[in-house]
Amino acid sequence: MDTQVLNIDKQSLDLAKKYIADGQVVAFPTETVYGLGANAFDEVAVKKIFVAKGRPSDNPLIVHVADKQAVYSIASHVTDDAVKVMDKLMPGPITMVLKKQSTIPHCVTGGLDTVAIRMPSSSQAQAFLSAVGYPICAPSANTSSRPSPTSWAHVAEDMDGKIPLILKGDDCQVGIESTVLDLSRDVPLILRPGIVTKSEIEAVLGKEVYFPDAIDKSMNSPGIRYKHYAPCCETFLNVDGDLQKIKDFLSSNENAGLVAVDKYANLTQKFFSLGQDAQSGAHNIFAALRDAEKVCDKLLIVWDLVGEEADGVFNRVIKSCGGKII
Ligand code: TXA
Ligand code: MG
Repeated sequence: MDTQVLNIDKQSLDLAKKYIADGQVVAFPTETVYGLGANAFDEVAVKKIFVAKGRPSDNPLIVHVADKQAVYSIASHVTDDAVKVMDKLMPGPITMVLKKQSTIPHCVTGGLDTVAIRMPSSSQAQAFLSAVGYPICAPSANTSSRPSPTSWAHVAEDMDGKIPLILKGDDCQVGIESTVLDLSRDVPLILRPGIVTKSEIEAVLGKEVYFPDAIDKSMNSPGIRYKHYAPCCETFLNVDGDLQKIKDFLSSNENAGLVAVDKYANLTQKFFSLGQDAQSGAHNIFAALRDAEKVCDKLLIVWDLVGEEADGVFNRVIKSCGGKII
């Protein structure tokens, strides 16, 4: 199949609308990462997402909506906590898991009785969702297990020839995927950390929020079972910033690269910047991994920032390296 890459304007949005109505898959930008979207009520179309990504069918998708009203047609029970999250944090880089309406297809939720719902804040995502007029289920627009795409060019690397249309928008401002907050249980659970932190959510809900590991690992998202965010080259993580260890890694591995914040920039020519802080780290991480894999045989990520703002990136990089810490 030929893949068109088009700037976002009236004409390309009309074409996107036509493809979505025809049961096709369209890639679009959001403030977090690019998404691979299909009409959430069209099972045949949803299955095409799983094929294009090579995604296991039991890993559920997030349903993206243009407005808050649409949440009520997707969730069967919009809890008081959900209303608070909608009021204070949506639109934005957060996803809520709620009990689903029976009309949401099995393939969207991987057979669960809950559904993940997100309202992106990016004006380009909003333009796409408003133009197509359906709730759009969308995972990140990468091949399964690869780093998520934060530019249209990343999407093209993975999806060329597999989908008919990539909407060419801006690079994603946030850079890591939304915080996933499960509000379908007795206590609120963060299933995936993101740029919206535990403290921010606790301030909005006025109560404590938990990570599943603190309670019961079986409460984790289905997605946690699978390999994630891995570059093509063998990748390691360092979390203590020990200069000697970093230098030893770079000198003992031929053609090794370093992904880290700028204070480590002088250690090698093959340096891929995470900027200065947790926010720039999130913004840069996936592009850095995709740039590095093209020119390195081995890769070291140094992520020694601490604090909850740094958790989102830590969650991604620990998976990128398959848990290999030096
Ligand atoms: O920022 C984002 O969330 C991006 C953009 C495109 O919106 N989307 C994204 O989708 O990251 P994806 O499919 O790559 O990640 C969705 C995560 C997975 O870990 C999945 O297991 C979890 O959300 N998830 C989806 N539905 C769920 C449900 N009903 N219960 C628990 N976890 C769910
Ligand atoms: Mg993903």
